[in-house]
Amino acid sequence: MAAFEIDPDIRKAKTIPSEFYLEPRFFELSKERVFARSWHLLCHENEVDGLFPATLLPGVLDEPVLLTREGDDLRCISNVCTHRGKVLVEEPCKANLIRCGYHGRRFSLDGKFLSMPEFEGVECFPSETDDLKSLPVANWNGFLFTSLDPAADLAAFAGEAKLSLLPDSDLPLKLTAKREYTVNAHWALYCENYLEGFHIPYVHKALNEIVDYGTYTTDTFRFSSLQTGFDQQGRVAANYLFIFPNLMFNFYDWGVSVNVVRPVSPCETVVEFLTYVADASKLELGAGGDLHGVEMEDEAVVESVQRGIHSRFYSQGRYSPTREQGTHHFHRLLAEFLD
Ligand code: FES
Ligand SMILES: [Fe+2]
Repeated sequence: MAAFEIDPDIRKAKTIPSEFYLEPRFFELSKERVFARSWHLLCHENEVDGLFPATLLPGVLDEPVLLTREGDDLRCISNVCTHRGKVLVEEPCKANLIRCGYHGRRFSLDGKFLSMPEFEGVECFPSETDDLKSLPVANWNGFLFTSLDPAADLAAFAGEAKLSLLPDSDLPLKLTAKREYTVNAHWALYCENYLEGFHIPYVHKALNEIVDYGTYTTDTFRFSSLQTGFDQQGRVAANYLFIFPNLMFNFYDWGVSVNVVRPVSPCETVVEFLTYVADASKLELGAGGDLHGVEMEDEAVVESVQRGIHSRFYSQGRYSPTREQGTHHFHRLLAEFLD
């Protein structure tokens, strides 16, 4: 029997029950069923030159991986030595092979075992298990992703959102700032708030002056959804792309703000804000101008929901068919992955 069922007809559907957020077993189940089977952002291709270590979702998957680049050849391999388990590369660096700093085992940049001191006479050695495991790497508009066990390829996850979402600029995207916010709420509450513009007039008074509520649109794809806000003149003010389960790409006139939502516990979430700028002259303008202020407003409302869902009088709600398609779609995917 399915853990949760969300009716495909939004007019009939009820939201995911509050036990999903409250019960630690669903938080644990989400690690393998949701996060291990989806795609994780490593970095933008402009950031990699040589070896680039990363940890996939610290606190959730905690998987040390290594992105390696030789010319145009990009690979993602395990960053854990096959001898006694030391993490191999701790900082981004340039090298033409990988050497473990514990006992000197060496690997090529595609993860093949090369050599090991003092192992003469060891039987059945080396074998395939002495190589570093390879993970898939996928490039989407210059952003590099990997996955442990993807439910589908990245193109399917990212959906129909096209390169045209990127700002109209010949300048390359540059990571200019990184910031982390801690939110006292379940990770999925943070995501589902992001997935609707319904709350903009109530929660974001200043943003509501820029984004025209009447013409706001939401399109859903297989594993992603795209919300578009237009300004009063009918120009696109912002495109908000959500890639299930926890990645948000926000396209503004100046570039892209990426949010990575990292679960910590059923009542704590860290949201990473990565600022990729193409045209710095437009940074203060429009819908992408005061992201910190908007974030504070969102956090207050999401933390209030976190307190509210503990109520013995609350279990599930209903959806607005015209304003909450993105949230409904997200709950449907959660139910599908947890099944
Ligand atoms: S742990 Fe890497 S060589 Fe021993
Ligand atoms: Fe918001």
